Amino acid sequence: LKFRLKGYVEFSKDITLLESKIDAIVTKEINTLLFKRGVPKGKKGAKITRWRLKGNKLMLTIEGSRYLRPHDALLRLRTFFTERVGKNLKIGVRAIFIKDYSIQYLPSKKPEDKVEVRVPWIKELRVKDNELLVKLQNLDASAIQNRYVERILSRINEKIQAKEYIGKSERWELLWQSPKKEIAWDKDPTEEMEKRGWIKRIAAGEWLHTPIPARLMRTMQEIVRLYLLEPLEFEEVFLPKMVPLEVWLRTGHMPGSANVFYYVSRAKKWSLNEWEDLFDYIKVTGQIPSELLKEKLTAPIGGMCFAQCPPFYWFFEKKLVPDDELPIKVWDSSGTSYRWEAGGLKGLERDTEFHRIEVIWMGKKAQALEIKDQLMERYEYIFNNILDLEWRKAWVVPWYMEQAGETDFEEKKEIGTVDFEAYLPFRGSRENSEWLEFQNLTVAGTKFSEAWKFKTTSLREVWTGCTGIGLERWMIAFIAQKGLEPEEWPTKFREIVGKLPREIKTI
Ligand code: SER
Ligand code: ZN
Repeated sequence: LKFRLKGYVEFSKDITLLESKIDAIVTKEINTLLFKRGVPKGKKGAKITRWRLKGNKLMLTIEGSRYLRPHDALLRLRTFFTERVGKNLKIGVRAIFIKDYSIQYLPSKKPEDKVEVRVPWIKELRVKDNELLVKLQNLDASAIQNRYVERILSRINEKIQAKEYIGKSERWELLWQSPKKEIAWDKDPTEEMEKRGWIKRIAAGEWLHTPIPARLMRTMQEIVRLYLLEPLEFEEVFLPKMVPLEVWLRTGHMPGSANVFYYVSRAKKWSLNEWEDLFDYIKVTGQIPSELLKEKLTAPIGGMCFAQCPPFYWFFEKKLVPDDELPIKVWDSSGTSYRWEAGGLKGLERDTEFHRIEVIWMGKKAQALEIKDQLMERYEYIFNNILDLEWRKAWVVPWYMEQAGETDFEEKKEIGTVDFEAYLPFRGSRENSEWLEFQNLTVAGTKFSEAWKFKTTSLREVWTGCTGIGLERWMIAFIAQKGLEPEEWPTKFREIVGKLPREIKTI
């Protein structure tokens, strides 16, 4: 590792009065003492190799080693000068700044292609003499203190390792499969429901549901209430549906799913005066001036609900949860979730706006795992005995890693996501068609209790788990296998759904 930094220490006043002393300060106090502190015997620390006073700045070149990196040496200098000239001369240190910083090293793996990390602090990044040369620029004190240098180097490393994102298809392991069911219907539920006027597409992936599909989805929810939430004593909560971006920064959804969110902005100025030109424009043209509207909005302050459970963990930030209050078991169905699926949109099974019951639990490890088993048992009962589905369970990339774009997932079987998939006859044969993931179940271990720093009062780890029940997806899985005629539906389901509402007719 070779480091060379050019920058300065800026003082509150002109310091040319130090002219006669500065050489001695640099050579006797800084290079031989300050920059040797903490450096193992016989190893190189850091060294100021050039210095020059210029008005209220001390211009510097610092060379360093892994034992004292020049940017850390610069932080040391700030404290040093605050003491050294602050007390006697009443001169303060106003700033430290790195203008140019070159770091050359042998990366753990040779980059195959050009590596690029696009942040304003990187001036140049290239291979030189078989090593990597990183030239940084314009780092101020807060950038240095917030470890931008280290983070830039680890980001470069991440890119060189070029770990491909491991998609779901690359990690899929069948856990269990139901017996085959007789195929009663092989039509596309979305198309058939549209033909009957049960649903209408209002925008890409966004649908209006008339009384019949609404009843079907509420019935799914009722089944979940009767056979899962009530027997297992889960309590309802209302989780926020507009999620502050900070929440996603903690989960890694930001940046991992940055391209899939629906973002939320609000008016920059509330006063109607500020909006008058927009009002006028619309009244005169009958059109909405999008560019003008954009100017009046803030940058996104949040996004629409995505994974549903994250704001719940945030509730526990830096708290201790009494041991005997655990396990905590809740569910939320207070609003819709949103995902921009780009080209992947087709039927209701893959929509932008969807309805989901999110079931969340937390406890000590053993409790979290026990609840998982109880839920599994309940789901099996529902899918086998009430909905009578042909379905299977598969072991997949945990959702919180998939959505954060992370690649190093645990191999431990205690932690992770199980997908529940249903066979959709309209998509083709069982073997060659894609089954529909209609829900998942996850034990996340301490992922979220670590992100929000909470433990039990006896300082034990809190494990969390969640399972998302997609109502549209349950409905599609059910209809795709059973069709649209109530007489064909399983008896237990018919008892709960009751007499269907009438269709809304239009000509
Ligand atoms: N939070 C989980 C997910 O987003 C379950 O709903 O997949
Ligand atoms: Zn969840």
